[in-house]
Amino acid sequence: MDFDLIIINGRLIDPGLGFSKKADIGIKDGKIGRIFEDNELAKMDIEKYMTDRVINADGALVTPGLVDIHVHFREPGREGQETVKTGSQAAAAGGFTSVCCMPNTQPAIDNQETVKFVTSLAEKGDCRVYCIGAITKNRDGEELSEIGDLVKAGVVAVSDDGDYLQNPDMMRRALEYARMFDIPVISHAEDIYLAAGGYMNESFQSTRLGIPGRPAVAEEIAILRDIKLAGLTRSRLHIAHVSTAGGVEAIRRGKAEGVRVTGEAAPHHFALTDDLIGEEFDSNLRVNPPLRTEDDRLAVVEGLVDGTIDCIACDHAPHSEAEKDVEFDQAPPGMIGLETSLGLSITYLVDKGFMTMPDLMRKMSINPAKIVNLPAPGLSVGEAADITVIDPDAEWTVEKNAFRSKSKNSPFVGWKLKGKVIATIMDGRITHRAK
Ligand code: DOR
Repeated sequence: MDFDLIIINGRLIDPGLGFSKKADIGIKDGKIGRIFEDNELAKMDIEKYMTDRVINADGALVTPGLVDIHVHFREPGREGQETVKTGSQAAAAGGFTSVCCMPNTQPAIDNQETVKFVTSLAEKGDCRVYCIGAITKNRDGEELSEIGDLVKAGVVAVSDDGDYLQNPDMMRRALEYARMFDIPVISHAEDIYLAAGGYMNESFQSTRLGIPGRPAVAEEIAILRDIKLAGLTRSRLHIAHVSTAGGVEAIRRGKAEGVRVTGEAAPHHFALTDDLIGEEFDSNLRVNPPLRTEDDRLAVVEGLVDGTIDCIACDHAPHSEAEKDVEFDQAPPGMIGLETSLGLSITYLVDKGFMTMPDLMRKMSINPAKIVNLPAPGLSVGEAADITVIDPDAEWTVEKNAFRSKSKNSPFVGWKLKGKVIATIMDGRITHRAK
C-alpha cells in the first residue's frame, strides 16, 4: 500500500492499549493504515517517499495526540488576543490534536449560533476544536442556558468558567440538566465573596508584598459544595485547575465516596509557587486561581500521581502585551500555556520521577478525552491518525518570538524545558513539525 505519510524509527506508546514498542506507522486517508513491527517496512519502501511524507522519529516517542479540555481562544470578541486559527496553531505547536474552548468569549458561548460560529472557524484548521457551553445565559448566573440545544449544537461540557456559579440551587439544576446528556459540568471553583479583591494567593507572600490575597479556602469551599451537589444529583462534575492541597483532598474524598467527580491541574500550578511573584512582579504570574504555596504545589503533584486529578489542562489564557504591561494588580489574570504544557509536564513530572511517559500520556490524551466524551486517541489500525511525536530528552528554551499564539503572556520565556514536540499529526495531516 502507498501511504500518505510514514512515521519511522519511533517507539510507539499507547497507554490505552498498554503497549510500548519500536514500530513504524503508515498513514492513509487520515487513518492509521498499518503498523510495521520488526523492521517490516523495508529501507527500499522508505526511499520511495519524499521527505515531506516521512517523519523520522528516531529517539522519539510516538503517542496518541494530546488533548486539552481547557483553553480560551477569545473568538468571538477579543480577536486581538487570539483567534480560533492562531489558537489552533499554538495547540498544534504544543502537540495537541484536540482542544475544548471555554465559553467566556464576548458574546458568551451560550447559544447554538455561537457554537456553530466557533466550530465553523475551526474547520480545516490545525486542531480539532470543541466548545464548552455556558451554564447560564451570558455567564451571569441568573438563568440557565438551553443546555439541550447546546448539546445538539455539539458542546461537550458546560461551564461558567472564570465565574463560579454562586447560586447553589442553580448549580443543582445545571447538574441535573447536564446529567440528561451525560456531559460534565465544569466548575471554576472559587467562592467569589472569599476571593473578592484578591490578586494573588493569601499567604505569607501576599502579606510581605502588601497585595490583597485570595485564600485557599475560597477554592476548597467551592469544591466541597459542588461535590455535595454532584453526589446529590448523581451527575458528572469536573473541577477545573485545582490549585490547593485542600481542593485535592476534597476531590480525593469525593471519589472515595463514589461521587462522579474528576479534576484537572494546570502546569503553572504544579511548576510555580507564589514566592516567584515578589521577584519581578511579573504580571504574567497573575492567574486565577492564583499560584499557591510549595505545599499546595506538591499536593497537586501527588493528586496527579495517585489519580485524584485525572488530567492536565493548561488554561491557555491569552492577553495582549498592553493589557499585561501594567502593575501586577491591574493586569487581567491568565497566561498562555499550550506551547509550554508538554515541556513543563515532562520537566516537572516525568524528569523529576513522579510519573512515566505513558502515565503522562494518559493525563494529557486519554483521560481528558474521556472526561468530555471524545473518542480517546489511540494507535490502532483504523483509528484517526491523531498522533504526537515527542522527544522526551530534548532540551529547549522558551522563546517569546517562537510562540504561535497571538499573545505572548508567558512567565516561562527564557526558561529551559525538557521534552520537545517533534511533530503533530491531526487527521493524518502534519500540523506542526519542529525545525
Ligand atoms: O487566569 C485565568 N484567566 N483564569 C480564568 O479562569 C479565566 C482566564 C481568562 O479567560 O483569561
